[in-house]
Amino acid sequence: MPKLIAGNWKMHGLNFEAEALARAIKAGAAGVSPERATLLVCPPFTALATVGAALLGSPILLGAQDCHPKPEGAYTGDISAPMLHDLGVRFVILGHSERRSTHDESDALVQAKVVAAHAAGLIPIVCVGETLAERDAGRADDVIGSQLAASLPADLAAAGGVIAYEPIWAIGSGRTPTAKQVSAMHTVIRSDLVRRFRGAGRDLPILYGGSVKPDNARAILALPEVGGALIGGASLKAEDFLTIAKAA
Ligand code: PGA
Repeated sequence: MPKLIAGNWKMHGLNFEAEALARAIKAGAAGVSPERATLLVCPPFTALATVGAALLGSPILLGAQDCHPKPEGAYTGDISAPMLHDLGVRFVILGHSERRSTHDESDALVQAKVVAAHAAGLIPIVCVGETLAERDAGRADDVIGSQLAASLPADLAAAGGVIAYEPIWAIGSGRTPTAKQVSAMHTVIRSDLVRRFRGAGRDLPILYGGSVKPDNARAILALPEVGGALIGGASLKAEDFLTIAKAA
């Protein structure tokens, strides 16, 4: 299966900048083997249409960074999953630690968003991750286990989805877990998925995210059970993003 190489642009990029970045990635994507890597970019809501248009005719997929759990209604300022689908969006990042912390998103809310994403025909990328204090206290496995249990709906495997393991202390910090720590956690997540979803749990891709850069991508992507990467900072430079994709 090709590795999923996903760029999370976060709150970066006016339309002219997002368009230039999308065009640069599209131009360089010819050098990335589609058997090895599937490219996905997740710009802010305001740049989705521009980036979608810039990527037309390329295999690069479009994703969003959040959605509301309801398809429509009196929710001022929110964006629903059908609205994203309408723009050509195919994936949506849900439960990113930045939303769990700055918007108080609970596991239950994340699960409701996953259900909404499925109903609109989107593939959710559900993020889980522990804090440094939780890891130091030896609680990382438990924290991830309870996030998975409460954030994933019972039909996740049937409806499709991606898990992203993103240790909070590795996001934007330049620090990454050791290969052993990444492998150990991905193995824990895989057994959890297989326990819950049986055979279908084997096929759900598990991405690693947190300070993935051109110089560590090869080692991370070579680890067993690492099905791709969710990349923040390094996805804002076409060259770095493409170098990571080529490392797959
Ligand atoms: P980072 O962000 O690559 O900048 O650490 C990853 C993420 O938050 O998804």
